[in-house]
Amino acid sequence: MNQTIAIDGPAGAGKSTIAKRVSNMLGYHYVDTGAMYRTLALALLRAGISEKDEEAVKKILVSTEVRVRYEDSVQHMILNGEDVTHLLRKEEVGDMASRSSALAPVREKLLDLQQQLAESMPVVMDGRDIGTVVVPDALLKIYLTASVAVRAQRRYKELVEKGETPVLPNIEADIRERDERDMNRPIAPLRQAEDAYLVDSSDLTIEEVCDRIIRLFYGALGITIAENAGFCFGVRRAVRMLEESIENGEKPIRTLGPIIHNETVVRSMEEKGVITLKDGASLPTDGKGTVVIRSHGVGPDVSEKLRGMGYQVVDATCPFVQKIHEIVRRESKAGRLIILIGDPAHPENIGTLAWAEGPCISIASAEEAKAMKLPKDARICVVAQTTFDREKFKELVEIIGEKEYDMLVLNTICHATDMRQTEAAALADSVDMMLVVGSRSSSNTQKLYDICKGRCACTSYIQSLDDLVTITFRSDSRVGITAGASTPNNIIQEVAGYVRRAKF
Ligand code: DC
Repeated sequence: MNQTIAIDGPAGAGKSTIAKRVSNMLGYHYVDTGAMYRTLALALLRAGISEKDEEAVKKILVSTEVRVRYEDSVQHMILNGEDVTHLLRKEEVGDMASRSSALAPVREKLLDLQQQLAESMPVVMDGRDIGTVVVPDALLKIYLTASVAVRAQRRYKELVEKGETPVLPNIEADIRERDERDMNRPIAPLRQAEDAYLVDSSDLTIEEVCDRIIRLFYGALGITIAENAGFCFGVRRAVRMLEESIENGEKPIRTLGPIIHNETVVRSMEEKGVITLKDGASLPTDGKGTVVIRSHGVGPDVSEKLRGMGYQVVDATCPFVQKIHEIVRRESKAGRLIILIGDPAHPENIGTLAWAEGPCISIASAEEAKAMKLPKDARICVVAQTTFDREKFKELVEIIGEKEYDMLVLNTICHATDMRQTEAAALADSVDMMLVVGSRSSSNTQKLYDICKGRCACTSYIQSLDDLVTITFRSDSRVGITAGASTPNNIIQEVAGYVRRAKF
């Protein structure tokens, strides 16, 4: 099966940056076909031959040898035995490449080389005609573009960084001219293949473009990675705040419990000097250094005590959890009994309950909801742990509702969790096998697992690559992958990579 990723598009759309990153992420070789046209252009320039003199071009091509060599996965261009890679990005070489690449003998000479490379190893190949001519049966074809204004800006920045003094309108004019030439030449013109995905990078970051391409690639192999898998906003923010404290050189840095429920991330932070305080462990009384409150949050007494002891406090409580804290405080002050739906032993809930200024309870099951007995005129406020199962929350609210208390219900399940669960359920319905990636200690991963297991019998909980070893992946199985909010993207990618290799 041809697993080539073909990326075509106009000059300056970011093809080479993206192709390099994607190839790195997949362990593929990156083939830059533009560099091949530039190599032949250099040969013409050196020989003083104009692209208009087709006979002279044909003649020199016969005696010109172009080879590709990979050193540490980096492509080097060899012209008649000489490594010319460092000479190819010059403006005049690019100009000549744009003009001479319209000639049939030039294209024929390079077509063979490009096809041989694509056949000999898995590659991400970028150029102008990869999906249309060079590898028409590529597994994935991307047409990567961006507006002329954005491409000109990028080129302008690049030249300024090199110490040059470019003129923006001139760059724009040059880009338009190249587009015109590449798109309107009679042989192998630049155009989007019918089965290529259009990706406009004008308003996307490099990471976003790569992420989209990687997902499309896995999708083409029958492996669907959920859009909402992995780090949620609150977790990403907490990890970033901890990293900022490390960068600022604050010492020592302690986190109240593991920063997120993921052993790999915690270990890597500890290697950078972070001390993870186990639950219930006491802090030294010297008040030296920084204490980071993780995204789960804590009760108001805890942060006050830390500040009182002299610690610098970095509060990385997720803003969605902070919102629950505010509700709990406000409604309990207003005389409502707080019913928090969630696991009473979960750190987020321990923290939340501490914000109540009156009676509060936490329940997690239908049995507990049924058994709950309060005075008939009780005024209650029902909230949920941010990562609680949406359907179960509804069920429990219905049970409590039947008791006819004066009930205020605020669904505080966070949107990211909601979307993650809805998407995981739909994905589990549409695949043969489902993998839920995350730590056993992550309650939201456990919930995702329960949801998927209920819909797809062949659902596995993946804590590490070891858990994949016993699973058989058939090439025609459709595999879905989702991950809890504390699972880093690189782990999701490793799992997807393993499945790809196991399938084919
Ligand atoms: O991508 P680049 O700027 O390095 O490419 C240099 C020139 O080569 C470009 O003007 C168009 C041409 N080219 C081509 O015609 N077909 C390809 N597959 C790659 C590049």
